[in-house]
Amino acid sequence: MKTVTESDMILTQLTLEEKASLCAGLNMWMTKSVDRLNIPAIAMYDGTNGIRKTASMEELGIFGDNVPATCYPTGSAIGSSWNVELLRELGVALGKEGRELDVEILLGPGINMKRTPLGGRNFEYYSEDPCLTGELGAAFVDGLQSQGVAASVKHFACNNQEYEKMITSSEVDERTLREIYLSAFERIVKKANPWTIMCSYNLLNGEYTSENEFLLKKILREEWGYDGVVLSDWTAVDNRVKGIKAGLDLEMPGPAHYNTKAIVEAVQSGELEERQLDTCVRRILELVRRTREHRGVELPSAEERHKLARRAAAESMVLLKNDKGLLPLQPERLSSVAVIGRFAKQPRIQGAGSAKVTPTQVDIPWDEMQDIAGERLELRYAEGYAQDSPPDTIDECLIEESVALARRSDVAIIFAGQPESSESEGLDIASIDLPCHQSKLIQAVADAQPNCIVVLSSGTALVMRPWIDQVSCVIQGWLSGQGGGRAIAEILFGLVNPSGKLSETFPVKLSDTPSYLYPRGENGKLFYREGLFTGYRYYDRKQLEPQFPFGHGLSYTTFEYVSLEAVQTGDEVHVTCAIRNTGTRSGKEIIQLYVNDEECLWQRPDKELKAFAKVNLEPGETKMVHFTLDRRDFSYYNTKQQRWVADMGFFNILAGSSSRDIRLRCRLHCDFGTQQAVQFHTFSLLSDWLRYSHSRAVLEEYLADMNRHAEEAVILNEEFIGFWNDFPLIKIIQMFGQQWLQDTSPHLVIEEMLERVARCQPADEELPER
Ligand code: BGC
Repeated sequence: MKTVTESDMILTQLTLEEKASLCAGLNMWMTKSVDRLNIPAIAMYDGTNGIRKTASMEELGIFGDNVPATCYPTGSAIGSSWNVELLRELGVALGKEGRELDVEILLGPGINMKRTPLGGRNFEYYSEDPCLTGELGAAFVDGLQSQGVAASVKHFACNNQEYEKMITSSEVDERTLREIYLSAFERIVKKANPWTIMCSYNLLNGEYTSENEFLLKKILREEWGYDGVVLSDWTAVDNRVKGIKAGLDLEMPGPAHYNTKAIVEAVQSGELEERQLDTCVRRILELVRRTREHRGVELPSAEERHKLARRAAAESMVLLKNDKGLLPLQPERLSSVAVIGRFAKQPRIQGAGSAKVTPTQVDIPWDEMQDIAGERLELRYAEGYAQDSPPDTIDECLIEESVALARRSDVAIIFAGQPESSESEGLDIASIDLPCHQSKLIQAVADAQPNCIVVLSSGTALVMRPWIDQVSCVIQGWLSGQGGGRAIAEILFGLVNPSGKLSETFPVKLSDTPSYLYPRGENGKLFYREGLFTGYRYYDRKQLEPQFPFGHGLSYTTFEYVSLEAVQTGDEVHVTCAIRNTGTRSGKEIIQLYVNDEECLWQRPDKELKAFAKVNLEPGETKMVHFTLDRRDFSYYNTKQQRWVADMGFFNILAGSSSRDIRLRCRLHCDFGTQQAVQFHTFSLLSDWLRYSHSRAVLEEYLADMNRHAEEAVILNEEFIGFWNDFPLIKIIQMFGQQWLQDTSPHLVIEEMLERVARCQPADEELPER
């Protein structure tokens, strides 16, 4: 029996106009209230790495300063922490800060897949892999909502470019859609039940996501069982009535009076059933109730939050290269260090657009390095490059000054990266090369100083080909938020052992990237022609060496993968990996478990990440790490059967320190009991008919009869089968049975055979051992 909720009761008291009106916001950031029924308005603000609360309810506020709030590392940075617990902690911290700032819904996290390194909002997104993104996103949502602040998981779905995004349809085949682009959303919905989901601006396969029944109704609600609110991205609504029918509950921003009117008229004319409107309103009322339930949380101080921002930044930075063990720096062995590059004094801490937070304070790398080095070591600074200079201008004076300083020092640290203006919502990235000047600067400094360290700031993968072989060390510092300055200083001097790993592949050159041939939409359509082969899946299949692979990241210590075991128990596969710290420092390793399907006849990526764990190990310590994989982790989406299928057969479980550094593997035979008999139909192939003894018996009987009348007999020997295996049986009958088909036709014969074969099913033991 269905219980009547408080929201149901309220619903009965609302007029049609009130209901329609509740389906849009009050202004830029609030829902509407209904005072006579004590329904309060609730507030929502961006964003993905901190709270961006505007000064007024009417302002969009993306070009100016807003209320100061803690600025945490952006999505790509935090995605490279691979630390589920940290994401939960960040969620909790943002929930508490949200409470303090009267925020009921936080418009994040952003969890779209990175299809191309040129995506303008890549800095907001976690990774190129749905498992990594989904696990991190679920932990974040869980933490946030534990404080009574709703998450808004965005942008649903396939918003992978900024270029003409509002009029471009992402054209994605269903298997790719489900396995790559929806999978992280699905994981988060099922694990953490976000209270809201934000639809995207773009169309998906020809229909705006804000009114897409396949996406919002069939997949999200019916298949995944989602009961929260779907809200629109800001102005993403086109046809509001269609949106209500598809299950888009809340339009933002409001008040959108014209749409209130349109909804009312649609109900009155019978175009829209009132119960469809009620469903949306009920969900909005439930959301309001959920966010009002929590009161009186304990609030951390600004100082505590800043410390978390520092810790999060340190966990996210990735040590990409460390030749000769140059890092960490040992002040007692050095007398002077050249610090080159503006970003050392004016760090880039985040990207621009709706996610841009006004930080409460900002750590400056230069100051923090001086603080750690103290009197022991002389740090000297050169500007290196001008602020946001055009990408192709070269200033020889700045280069000469830097080279001279580097030559006089024991070590040179260059802070480089994408210019401030290059990464923003609204425009895609023009290039993943460093600006010419910076590239030349690095080469010139590295020529003069063999001990050269490069620290990079960017929210997306960068190309390093022109200079990578010349420098000893590279740290990917990402856009690491207000605590990034301290974090990088602590990593450089070894106070923190780096433990981040790349959450996206760094290519040798842009033309190596999976979507290079189809980077942006044309004439309103963007075809995702690389299909399933995004990120490392592509580099694996093409056997292409990336500059740095997905999952790569070094530590100041070393790890040995000692053993790996996997056993299937029912619907689960239990994997145990033993890992040892073989170095002299404590450190964290991220163990990555990939699954490879050895036998599937459908296209599958060579390997796919299915689980991971970040473990802290003291020197000499060994830990056993347990993972549980389930049927879904072995499945692909079978579009013919419209379901996830895990074929029976051999799989390999790979334990890697990166996607290209697989340390241990084990092979096991899995049977999830989902092997399905072939569904016989008019065009079933000879191979299908031969597969089971019951169909083979029918086949042999008919062939024997046919052979009695034929000029040329069909003998099912190796040679015959080798040639005709992939022919539909009906075609073989057409070819060899002309004399036999006197008063019947190939179709009638096949129909008769289908009836015969439908009467018996193959026994379990007859299911093919493929
Ligand atoms: C962005 C969203 C954001 C919203 C509100 C839109 O432009 O796409 O991510 O939450 O604005 O600022």
